[in-house]
Amino acid sequence: MTDDPSRLVLVASNRGPVSFSFAPDGSLAARRGGGGLVSGLMPGLAAVAADGGVLWLCAALSDADRVAARLGERAHGAPGEAPVRMLDIPQDTFAAAYNGIANSVLWFVHHLLFDTPVKPRFDAAFRRDWAAYVAYNQAFADALAEESVTGTRVLVQDYHLALAPRMLRDLRPGIRIAHFEHTPWAPPDYYRLLPDDIAAAVLDGMLGADHLGFHSQRWAAAFLDCCEAVLGARGVRISRSGTGGEVSYRGRVTGVAAHPLGVDAGALRARGQEADVRTAAAVLSGPVGERQVIVRIDRTELSKNILRGLAAYRELLATRPQWRGQVVHLALAYPSRSGLAEYRAYTERVHDLAREINAEFGTDDWDPLILDLKDDYPRSLAACGLADVMIVNPIRDGMNLVAQEGPILSERGCALVLSREAGAASLIGDSALLVNPYDVSATAEALHAGLCMAAGERQRRSAAVTAAASAQAPQRWLADQLAALS
Ligand code: G6P
Repeated sequence: MTDDPSRLVLVASNRGPVSFSFAPDGSLAARRGGGGLVSGLMPGLAAVAADGGVLWLCAALSDADRVAARLGERAHGAPGEAPVRMLDIPQDTFAAAYNGIANSVLWFVHHLLFDTPVKPRFDAAFRRDWAAYVAYNQAFADALAEESVTGTRVLVQDYHLALAPRMLRDLRPGIRIAHFEHTPWAPPDYYRLLPDDIAAAVLDGMLGADHLGFHSQRWAAAFLDCCEAVLGARGVRISRSGTGGEVSYRGRVTGVAAHPLGVDAGALRARGQEADVRTAAAVLSGPVGERQVIVRIDRTELSKNILRGLAAYRELLATRPQWRGQVVHLALAYPSRSGLAEYRAYTERVHDLAREINAEFGTDDWDPLILDLKDDYPRSLAACGLADVMIVNPIRDGMNLVAQEGPILSERGCALVLSREAGAASLIGDSALLVNPYDVSATAEALHAGLCMAAGERQRRSAAVTAAASAQAPQRWLADQLAALS
C-alpha cells in the first residue's frame, strides 16, 4: 500500500465483505460476508489493495455489526483484503430504505415484477420510506466524503445507493466516482411507473457519477432510454456508442458502459477440488446413481422464476415419459429476503410444487426432484460438478453468475438452458439453449434437448462458456472500471 492518499479506492455497498457476530464470551467475531456482489468484487480488489489501498464502506446489518460500527472497528478479512467501515444507520431508517424502497420498489421495477393491478401504490407510506432512502444514501455520501481526498476513486454499488453519487459529488467535487448496477435496468415505459419526481431523482443521483457500469449492453441502453424519456425536458443530451454512450446533464458528462462480470475459471475449479466439495459430491451422488442430473442453484428470489422452472420439469416428465426414472432434478434454492412477505409466500409455493411433482411421478426407488433450501456453498459447487443439464431461467437478471459457474465446474460438460432475459445471455449467447422464461413448454423442450445433447457437444459448449467467462474475469472487470475513471 502506498502512502499517497489520492491512490485510495473506496467501495460502497449495502452488504459488505464481513459480518460480525457475538462470540460466547460477548466479544465481537468477524467473518466473511456472503453474496454475489462481494465475491465478484473481492478478487479484483486484492490487486488494487496492494497498489494504493482500499476501504470498503457498508451498512451495519445486524446488532453485532452495529456494536462494531459504534466501536469504530475496522474489520479485516483475510490479509491483503480491504478493511471495512460499517455505517450505523438507525435501524428504522435502514429497514425503510432497504426493504421499503431498494428491495420492494427499485428491485421490482428493474426486474419487471409488479403485479400491476394491485402494486405498486405510491402513497404517504411510500413517501416516508423514500425519505429514509434519501437519509440512508446521505449517510453513505457523508462517510465517503469524510474518507476521501482529491483524486480518490469511489466505486458505488447497486440500486441501494442510486442517490449517493450526486450527494457525494456535491460534497467533494474533485473526486472520481463510478456506480455499478448489478441488476437489469427497466425499459422506460416500465421505469415510469415510478412517480415522476422519483424517476428523475434516481437518474439524477446516478448521473452525479463520472462513469456508470452495467452487466450488459442491453441494460446500459435501457438506462440511456430512461434518461431520454425522463430527463429529456430537462436538457439532457445523450450520445450512444457501441457498448454504451455518454450523458451530458447539469454541466457534466457521465460515461455509460457495459462491463460484463465473468468468472475466474481456474480459481473456481481449484475451489471445486477441495475436500468439502468432494464430500458434498459423494453425498449428492447417492440418490442420483447413474441417472442424468438437471441442476438449478438460486437464491429463492421472485426474479429467479423457480416456479416456472419446476413446472417445465413437470411438463417434461408428463410429455416425455422416457425420462421417468432416468433423470434427477437437483434444485438448490437458498433463502433470501425472508423479511418480505412476498418472498416467504413464494418459498412456500416452491415447496408445494416440489411436493406435488414428487407425489405425481416418484416411485419407490426414484425421487424425481430433490429440493433443498439450505445455503451450502460447497454443496452448490458439488452439484455443478454433477450437472448434465443446468437450468438458469430468471424472469430477468443483471448477469447471473451461476450460468457461467455451472458449465465451468461440470465434470463432463453440461448443456445450459438459459433465459434470454439474463445478462449472461449476452455474454454466453449461442453456447446456451436460450429460452423465453415465461414459456414453460419451450423450457421443457429445451430440457429435453439438453438431456439428448451428445457428450462432445456439451463439452464444446461448456468450453466456450468457460472462455467467455474467463475473458471477463473479476480482475479485468474491476480494472476496466478503474481505467474508465482515469
Ligand atoms: C442480488 C442482486 C444484487 C444485489 C443483491 C442484494 O444478488 O443481483 O444486485 O446486490 O441481490 O441482495 P441482499 O439480499 O444481499 O441485500
